[in-house]
Amino acid sequence: MTCDRHLTRDPHQVGRIADRLGAILTQRGIGPATTAHEPLPEPVTALELADARIPARYRRALTDHPHVTAWVDEITRAGRPGPAGAPGISEGPSLLIAGPTGTGKTHQAYGAIRALLTAGVRLRWEAITAADLYARLRPRSGFDSERELQALARCPLLLLDDLGAAKTSEWTEELTYRLINHRYEHLRPTLITTNLPTADLRTALGDRVASRLAEMTERVILDGPDRRRHPAA
Ligand SMILES: Nc1ncnc2c1ncn2[C@@H]1O[C@H](COP(=O)(O)OP(=O)(O)OP(=O)(O)O)[C@@H](O)[C@H]1O
Ligand SMILES: [Mg+2]
Repeated sequence: MTCDRHLTRDPHQVGRIADRLGAILTQRGIGPATTAHEPLPEPVTALELADARIPARYRRALTDHPHVTAWVDEITRAGRPGPAGAPGISEGPSLLIAGPTGTGKTHQAYGAIRALLTAGVRLRWEAITAADLYARLRPRSGFDSERELQALARCPLLLLDDLGAAKTSEWTEELTYRLINHRYEHLRPTLITTNLPTADLRTALGDRVASRLAEMTERVILDGPDRRRHPAA
C-alpha cells in the first residue's frame, strides 16, 4: 500500500512565507535531501571509565612518589600489544606500599592505576581491601566464592588494599595465601598496601605469604604524619 492512495487533494500550497523560508534554507545549503548530523559524542577514555569505579576520594589521585612512578613505567614498558594496538598489561613485578596510617598509601595505589590508564595501557583491574575480601568471600549458600576468588586471582591488575589490617584466622590466612600464590606463580602485577612494618608481615600473614611477597614485590615505604589530621603534609 502506498501513501498516494490516501491523498484526497493536491498538496497544500502555503504561499510566500514558505517560498521565503525555502530560499533562506537553500542559501544555507539546506535542502530536502540534507540529512541532519548529530554532533559526535566525545570518545569516552579508559581513564573516564575507570574514574567511575575509583572511590571518589581517590578519583584525582596522582602518584608523586618516584618509586611508584618507576613501577608504572616498568609495567607500561612490559605491556604486550593488544588487538587494538594499545599495550595490555602482562607479567611484571608487584608493588608493596607500606607505611603508617594516613601517609597516602591508597592514594599512591589509585594514582598508579590512573597513571597506567593515562599512559594508554589497556587495563582490566580490580581493587578490594583485605577486610572486604574476607567478608565477600565468606562461604554462604547461593554464592560461588571460589569463582570470585579465581576472578580476583586472574585479574591482570589487582589492588589489595590494607593487607594485614583485618582480623586473621586460619581461613583468612589460607585465602590470602591462595590469592597471593596465584599472582606470584603467574607474575601478575599486584598493588598491595599495608600498615605493617616488613618485620611484622610474617607474623600477621604467615610465612608462606610473607616469603612470596618478599620475592614478588618492589617496596615503597611512606612516612610522615597522618595526612588526614595534617592535610598540608
Ligand atoms: N600525595 C597526596 N597528595 C594529596 N593528598 C593526599 C596525598 N596522599 C594522600 N592524600 C590524602 O590524604 C588522606 C589519606 O590518604 P590515604 O587514604 O591514601 O592514606 P593511607 O596511607 O592509605 O591510610 P590508611 O593506612 O589508614 O589506609 C586522603 O584524604 C588522601 O586523599
Ligand atoms: Mg589506605
